[in-house]
Amino acid sequence: MSILLIAGSPSAPSRSSRLLQYAAEQLALRGQRTTTLEVRTLPAQALVHAEFGNAGLKAAQALVAEADAVIIGTPVYKAAYSGLLKSFLDILPQDGLAGKLVLPLATGGSQSHMLALDYALRPVLSSLSARHVLPSIYATDAQVIWSEENGLSIDPAILARLTTGIDSLTASLLALQEAAVTEYEPVHFSQVRCSV
Ligand SMILES: Cc1cc2nc3c(=O)[nH]c(=O)nc-3n(C[C@H](O)[C@H](O)[C@H](O)COP(=O)(O)O)c2cc1C
Repeated sequence: MSILLIAGSPSAPSRSSRLLQYAAEQLALRGQRTTTLEVRTLPAQALVHAEFGNAGLKAAQALVAEADAVIIGTPVYKAAYSGLLKSFLDILPQDGLAGKLVLPLATGGSQSHMLALDYALRPVLSSLSARHVLPSIYATDAQVIWSEENGLSIDPAILARLTTGIDSLTASLLALQEAAVTEYEPVHFSQVRCSV
């Protein structure tokens, strides 16, 4: 099972990307493989012009297609998710998230827009046919602090939400994996053809 982390901030360093990085480390501890896609590194002109055939964009689309689950990290910009993230979601196929689990994360300057993921991003994820969108996680800048000396410091309440979100994601992935295994039809011995 593979998990793609999509970083939707135009900035580097980025608080929302640090939350994604933390999530990746926690997933690795749980034995989950992750890949990170930073949207800001994609060919900018191709993204803005929605050049669906661009090689860099096609490679990014393929990463999404191959993932079983996606964690999306974004800053809140003007009461919604970043325009950069929207540009990327716009170049995905209409059912680009079909069958996938999605965990949305955001950081914002204050609590004022803590519902932005739910009122702005969630409908778009549903429109892209996401299988299941887990409860979103929102942190303010004051709750995600990074310094050279101490590294990343995350508010305990956010840490608890992240742990719950990551545990739910891994449990749901495991359940899907088991369901996929049991979905195989048993093959009767009379149908088995041997080549020796
Ligand atoms: C252009 C711009 C618009 C912003 N708009 C909002 C906003 O509407 N609401 C809010 O809570 N924070 C807003 N912020 C603050 C960012 O969401 C916040 O600092 C966030 O943690 C940045 O995440 P990043 O470091 O991953 O880019 C805005 C910041 C910028 C640069």
